[in-house]
Amino acid sequence: MLSVSRILVRQLPSRIARANYSVAAPATAFAPLNSVTESDITHFATILSPSSLLSTLSPTSTSPEELDQFNNDWMGRFRGNSTTVVKPKTTQEVSEILKRCYEKRIGVVPQGGNTGLVGGSVPVNDEVILSLANMNKVRSFDPVSGILVADAGCILQSLTDYVAPHNHIMPIDLGAKGSCQIGGNVATNAGGLRLLRYGSLHGTVLGLEVVLPDGTILDQLTTLRKDNTGYDLKQLFIGAEGTLGVITAVSILTPPAPQASNNVILALPSFDKVLPLYQVVKQQLSEILSAFEFIDRTAYDLAVKHGQGRALSDEDVEGAECFVLVETSGGRREHDEEKLSHLLETLFEADKPLINTGVLSQSPAQFSSLWALREGVTEAVSKEGKAYKYDISVPLSSFKDVVDGTREHLHSRGLLHDKAVKHVLGYGHVGDGNLHLNIVADAYLPEIEDALEPYIYQVVASHRGSISAEHGIGAMKTHALHYSKDKVSIGLMKKIKEMFDPRGIMNPGKVLE
Ligand code: FAD
Ligand code: MLT
Ligand code: ZN
Repeated sequence: MLSVSRILVRQLPSRIARANYSVAAPATAFAPLNSVTESDITHFATILSPSSLLSTLSPTSTSPEELDQFNNDWMGRFRGNSTTVVKPKTTQEVSEILKRCYEKRIGVVPQGGNTGLVGGSVPVNDEVILSLANMNKVRSFDPVSGILVADAGCILQSLTDYVAPHNHIMPIDLGAKGSCQIGGNVATNAGGLRLLRYGSLHGTVLGLEVVLPDGTILDQLTTLRKDNTGYDLKQLFIGAEGTLGVITAVSILTPPAPQASNNVILALPSFDKVLPLYQVVKQQLSEILSAFEFIDRTAYDLAVKHGQGRALSDEDVEGAECFVLVETSGGRREHDEEKLSHLLETLFEADKPLINTGVLSQSPAQFSSLWALREGVTEAVSKEGKAYKYDISVPLSSFKDVVDGTREHLHSRGLLHDKAVKHVLGYGHVGDGNLHLNIVADAYLPEIEDALEPYIYQVVASHRGSISAEHGIGAMKTHALHYSKDKVSIGLMKKIKEMFDPRGIMNPGKVLE
């Protein structure tokens, strides 16, 4: 790699407290759900092949340990007690399973790659887990329009690999790409590393096939760029986290692959340089800027400590308070490299330098290893300890204050030491105004959670921010939804839930309390 160096928050009441409402939020009073019985297993066995039905109930005999991977979430924080996992292979099979669950009032948790970070993909009790893993075929791809239609259970990386020979890329990319599924991405409206360039899934998803809670198949799997025929129903399922139905297929617009991609990691002396840097970078790189990602020093050190890449020498890292990863994607290599070189020259020759140093990737391997450093923070954090993950939208200028304020707050509660909170760190998608505030603890402890909540949510509300920029609400934040949504909005969300799922069987305990 080429080293290019030398060349407190006021606790305001949440938004709802200030508003005046005409629509009251109805209580979601669904009748209690039932557990799966042996007779349900016998029924499921008439729908599914034997390998698609895992249950500890007879006549099947799966061991509880075999269900652990489905009952536990990625972070090891949320755990369900499901006795039964179904893995349908077709939309028709999904429909028949849901019909039965609807009739018998059995809760259903759709599960993709189980990489979600808010406890949405595992049961809160003993709901049936409906895994999409066996629905993993590409249905069609049009290399002219770039429109891909795929089963919901296709793994994101496999779709990236599928469209690559046709000179296309997926409009979404994230650290969990090797495990997460396109259906899970859509259900969480995942953001990721390319949102700055290609926008959110609300724009790139063109159509969906969804099985509704009573088994009805909703076919909205269009491949049209334009369709103004009334309400755009598919948007309701994007980000619904499996609470309205099971997504079984996705039609998505894939962009042409850039002809040239470059990246550079920049070490900054202080956080207050991030925003001026962002302005300069945006202005100079304009249309070729495709990512502007931020990691603070703690995040960088943890990534390096846990083997997620080493980009800079000790000398270069010295004195750096944070780092920014800039990526360009464009149509002509010489043009892009010229722009990037000019940017770096400007930065190094500035009278008031915004950066200490930088490292420019010089090969595809170096390009990937710079990205690994940023993408690997999630994995590094989970290796370091138990993570409390807050995924918030707040003004860019407040990123550092939010991280520092949380650290001071935990210190004032006597919780900042090896046996409680080990690190407080921030990283995220500066270009999207999205900060990942992580608190790494020795163990999940009630006193830590009490110190963090509602503190963090009040901080977010004081900025009129969002308590979930991209990971969703899941089971983790249902109680905190009101910090970002007013009563009118929550009331309407509950009505929508009741309309699609009048028996409350879809992913109970998620998104809405
Ligand atoms: P799951 O975890 O299985 O499920 C997530 C939610 O979607 C659950 O509520 C589940 O019920 C529902 N669901 C899943 N499939 C369906 C379906 N077919 N129909 C209906 N509902 C369904 N998220 C980001 O937004 N940006 C990131 O950059 C990012 N990076 C990550 C990096 C790592 C290392 C990890 C572990 C996670 C990351 N995440 C990120 C979070 C997570 O990967 C995403 O939310 C992802 O989109 C979840 O997909 P999944 O298939 O694993 O879904
Ligand atoms: C990321 O941006 O790395 C992901 O959203 C995952 C995380 O927050 O750790
Ligand atoms: Zn993220």
